This record gives sequence, structure tokens and C-alpha cells, in this order.
Amino acid sequence: MQVTFKIWRQNGPKDKGKFESYPVDDLTDDMSFLEALDHLNERLVVAGKQVIAFEYDCREGICGQCGIFINGRAHGPHDHMTTCQLHMRSFKDGDTIVVEPWRAASFPIIKDLVVDRSAFDRIIEKGAYISSQTGTAPEANAILIPKSVADKAMDAAACIGCGACVATCKNSSAALFTAAKINHLNRLPQGKAEQHTRVKEMTWQMNLEGFGSCTFTGACEVECPEGISISNIAELNARLLKSKISGS
Ligand code: FES
Repeated sequence: MQVTFKIWRQNGPKDKGKFESYPVDDLTDDMSFLEALDHLNERLVVAGKQVIAFEYDCREGICGQCGIFINGRAHGPHDHMTTCQLHMRSFKDGDTIVVEPWRAASFPIIKDLVVDRSAFDRIIEKGAYISSQTGTAPEANAILIPKSVADKAMDAAACIGCGACVATCKNSSAALFTAAKINHLNRLPQGKAEQHTRVKEMTWQMNLEGFGSCTFTGACEVECPEGISISNIAELNARLLKSKISGS
């Protein structure tokens, strides 16, 4: 299989950047997309050229590190899939594949396809944890939680923080990410004690980081590899209103 990768090259945040084309052969259908980029990088090393910088960790759809735009879609052509789970059989022999980094002012480009997503870390630092002293691990069933509540909390907890929601949103909004992190904890009894401060602090940080406002286009839900529902954002808005009224 032979394809041409048209890849965004950028030396750093201040560099203007440009697309460069790389024809690559000897690819197979069962190679993952990242393995195809590895293959290209091996060729570049042999040719004494700079390798293409891209991020990954688990290569199993868990860590959220591997986000890139492929042919204009976050994580490539399939719904609810990370880049590392994408295989070359999704493309045709002779295809040109356009590869770009996440595009958002709050995610500045570090190099090539690698962006700085530390804005997400700073939102999490503001409240995506429980600070109460719990002592040793309690008996698992000491706090009874209805299955429907546990399921909804786990649905929100599925967010892997990849940033596809921001990159695909025309406003670069981080509302889906922030809502998922808040709702995960606020839906559970353990998260109730700090629910109001969590909502206020995390949304405040989200705005401080320069993410845009949510206008409910729904693009984030479509491109989210975990299929996190935008109903989380509606719930976040209701929680934010309640937290302001509560005065705590
Ligand atoms: S490398 Fe971990 S989700 Fe893709």
C-alpha cells in the first residue's frame, strides 16, 4: 500500500508552519495509523531529516495523548475512535492523507503535531478531586449508590481528556471536557460536599484559559472518542446556576 502524507510541520509556537508531502510505500492494511507514521519517521532518520513529532502513550485508546486531525476530522474518519485505534485499511491505496495538529488558541503548538494541553490540567487542578479525609479504603458497599447514578457517573468518567471536543468546536469550547469532569464527581455522594465550589472553580479556570463559549452545535459529541453526551453540558449549566444561588 502506498499513500502520501501531507503533514503540518512547525518548529515551535512562534514558527509560521507549513504542510509538507511525504509519499510512503511498503505500508500494510493492518498497520495502525501511528505505525505508519513510525514507518515514515524511520525513513526520515535514514535520510538524515528531522522526524515528525507526534504524541502517544498507551496506543490502546485509553490515555488521550494521540489526538490529531486526519483529513479534516478529529482522530480520523471514524466516529468514537482515537487516532491510535485507526488502521491503514481505512484508507485506499494511492490516497493523500492530510494530517494536522489540534487547532485552538488554548492549545498552542509545541512542534509539528504536538500541542500543549496543560490548560486541561489546570482545569482539573481546580476541583476534579475529592479532598475530604477518608482514612483507609472503606468497605465498597458502605455507601449505597443506585446503579443508574453509578452508570451516569461512569459515563462522564470515560472522558480521556484528548481535546478532540475543543479542536473540533468552531468556538474552541472546553465545555464538554469540563462538564464531564465535574459531573463525574458531582453525581456521586462522595462528590457532593464540594459540589458547588468544584463547579465554580473549574468553570472559572476554563474561562481564564481562553476557551470559547459553548453554542450547542454538538460537534464535540460526534468527535468525542468516548461518545460523551452534550447533555453533560446542559447539566453543568444547571449546576453552575445552583452553585451561584447556594452562595457557598
Ligand atoms: S495513545 Fe493513548 S489514547 Fe491513543
